Amino acid sequence: MLKRFWLWLGRLLGRLLLALLVLGLAGWGIGALVYHFKYRGPVSTEEVVAPTEAADTQAIIEDAIGVVEQHRDNTRVLRDAHAKAHGCVRAEVRVRDDLAPALRHGVFAEPSKEWQAWVRLSNGNAYPQFDRIRDARGMAIKLLDVPGAKLTADPRHAGEQDFVMFNHPVFFVRDVAEYRSNFAAQAEGKKVLAFFPSGDPRTWELRHLFIALRTLSPAPESPVATTYSSVAPYKLGPHNIKYRVIPAPEQCPDYQLPEQNRDLPNFLRSALYQQLSLDRMPACFALQVQRQNPQYYMPIEDTSIEWDESISPFETVADIRLPAQDFDSPEQNLACDNLSFNPWHALPEHRPIGGINRLRKAVYEAISTYRLERNGVR
Ligand code: HEM
Repeated sequence: MLKRFWLWLGRLLGRLLLALLVLGLAGWGIGALVYHFKYRGPVSTEEVVAPTEAADTQAIIEDAIGVVEQHRDNTRVLRDAHAKAHGCVRAEVRVRDDLAPALRHGVFAEPSKEWQAWVRLSNGNAYPQFDRIRDARGMAIKLLDVPGAKLTADPRHAGEQDFVMFNHPVFFVRDVAEYRSNFAAQAEGKKVLAFFPSGDPRTWELRHLFIALRTLSPAPESPVATTYSSVAPYKLGPHNIKYRVIPAPEQCPDYQLPEQNRDLPNFLRSALYQQLSLDRMPACFALQVQRQNPQYYMPIEDTSIEWDESISPFETVADIRLPAQDFDSPEQNLACDNLSFNPWHALPEHRPIGGINRLRKAVYEAISTYRLERNGVR
């Protein structure tokens, strides 16, 4: 009797599993077909501003200020995103000698030109947490003493050209309207439900939920051992581009980082310190750009879409070197906290484009001003 029951249960579970597998495969197949037909080129090379964008932006700023206040670190107000730094380090950014003439614009106009820069390496979370926790990792570069009028009028940033990235190629929302509803839901603690705004399946953002889950990835072995992407598009002179910074150990002397203790809360800072300060070994990267090919689905107004590398490969425009250095002093860490990176600290030749970048202009300025004033720096 018992044996028959177990056999029956086994068959039932087997059929259930098979049904689930078939359903999963069918769902995946339908998803792939929809993706293929819905997301096809050609696309516009121009920006398109949604009518609700200004109101959405204002609402997002108010929510973001709520978040920084919520995560206040005793007396200091931290960044709303990428609150925890692994360090701010000095860097040299050298334009490639053989850079193609078509890519010589803005700070890349002059081959062999070397810029001095600050690089801030960070975890993406809104408040500091152990480095081993899944998260996005950020890299923000600030080139110094860059001549020419910038896109922001603030004289404090008059000589700066920033590049602001994290280590995933796509963003978990497409545009400002979706960011507003998602961010508001997340601020109420609805982490997964934020992607299912109503009972209507047409509003469900399953693909974006998967992007969010993949963005929160395990920590790399060091902040210099991962690729950082601009995610959103920019101008490079007449071109629309995305950019990324990719490790280029072949440009540096051979070095093997000793294994770090990943249970230490700040092991990514330790890894950076071990390489640059203790072992006195530099770290190397390549700064690369990818040009939009509007014949294919490489949209300006949707940051959840990766531009296909097989259609438009990345081209190296500059080499980045973090020389051996001491960076982990209380003074430098405080100065690092008080820096502001913003994609709009830029020459017109590097203008940020697309809705998410337009949103970032208002939000980064507002949050940076708010936290620096609250911290008594301004
Ligand atoms: C394209 C996608 C994005 C990327 C690659 C990105 C990357 C980063 C990085 C790396 C930082 C840290 C900069 C630093 O080291 O100081 C940062 C800061 C910040 N991000 Fe983003 N971000 C993106 C989108 C957004 C969006 C859509 C918002 C909100 C509207 C946002 C809000 C902020 C804020 C408020 C800060 C702190 C600014 C400050 O206080 O100085 N980011 N972001």
